[in-house]
Amino acid sequence: MTKSLENKVAIVTGGAGGIGQVYARALAEEGAAVVIADMNEAGAKDAAAKLTADGLKAIAVKVDVTDPESAKAMVQAAKDAFGGLDILVNNAGIMSTLPKGKITEIPASEWERALKINAGSVLVCTQAAVPAMRERGGGTIINQGSTAAFETGGLYRLSKHAVFSLTATLAAELGRDGFTVNAIAPGMIQTEEGFRSAGTPDSERRQARAAGVPNKTPDRQPDALVGALLLLASPAGDYINGQTIIVDGGRNNRL
Ligand SMILES: NC(=O)c1ccc[n+]([C@@H]2O[C@H](COP(=O)([O-])OP(=O)(O)OC[C@H]3O[C@@H](n4cnc5c(N)ncnc54)[C@H](O)[C@@H]3O)[C@@H](O)[C@H]2O)c1
Repeated sequence: MTKSLENKVAIVTGGAGGIGQVYARALAEEGAAVVIADMNEAGAKDAAAKLTADGLKAIAVKVDVTDPESAKAMVQAAKDAFGGLDILVNNAGIMSTLPKGKITEIPASEWERALKINAGSVLVCTQAAVPAMRERGGGTIINQGSTAAFETGGLYRLSKHAVFSLTATLAAELGRDGFTVNAIAPGMIQTEEGFRSAGTPDSERRQARAAGVPNKTPDRQPDALVGALLLLASPAGDYINGQTIIVDGGRNNRL
């Protein structure tokens, strides 16, 4: 049976991380050749080796997603290895190292860091990717948001809200040229970084949050996000544009 992403080339930024590795595998298992791009070079190499060991197509690239030249080199690496680029998953980000205190009291440098890494990187990598995608008639861009963006307090939430605004703006700008640009807003997901940021599963803090999720399994592994990822990445999702898909078990339940 033909896979939905056969002959497609994808980049997953933050591909060495907890969610990024799962995204990369899911895309590769659907037939895509995947560039695992991360500033953690050893982690990216390890993740790519696991995929190639299973007969999947993957390479690792070291990138700093905040640096335009580095992002351009990442895209060039995709072209050199696999002949072009079709899918960009802007997943790299930081959570636990951002201050959770009052934004009236945090140093302004932290504001810059949060916005630069979590939101600015989406623009930097998209700007690097779009020319290569245009060579193949357009592309699919999927940005990693967070349901944290729907709450106030702290810089992480603010930075992820900017991702949604960027998503809508890019979708409007690029849609007619054969692109779709969407975001995924995950709720609580079990990764090491997620535990550092939102508490371990045995912590009161995390359990209280899980109690507010109307789902049989309220605290999930990254594979809970794969359905949304593949819908947005595949031809089946090509009329979905400018949207944020919330994948949080119904905690952000809106009429
Ligand atoms: N885990 C959760 O509960 C959760 C929930 C909602 C959203 N998210 C978002 O999902 C994404 C992945 O989260 P995760 O839990 O897998 O975290 P993670 O720390 O495991 O993965 C993030 C990856 O991004 C990389 N990275 C960070 N800064 C970078 C930079 N400047 N250049 C290149 N790579 C960089 C890191 O090296 C890391 O491998 C993040 O954007 C996060 O905000 C996570």
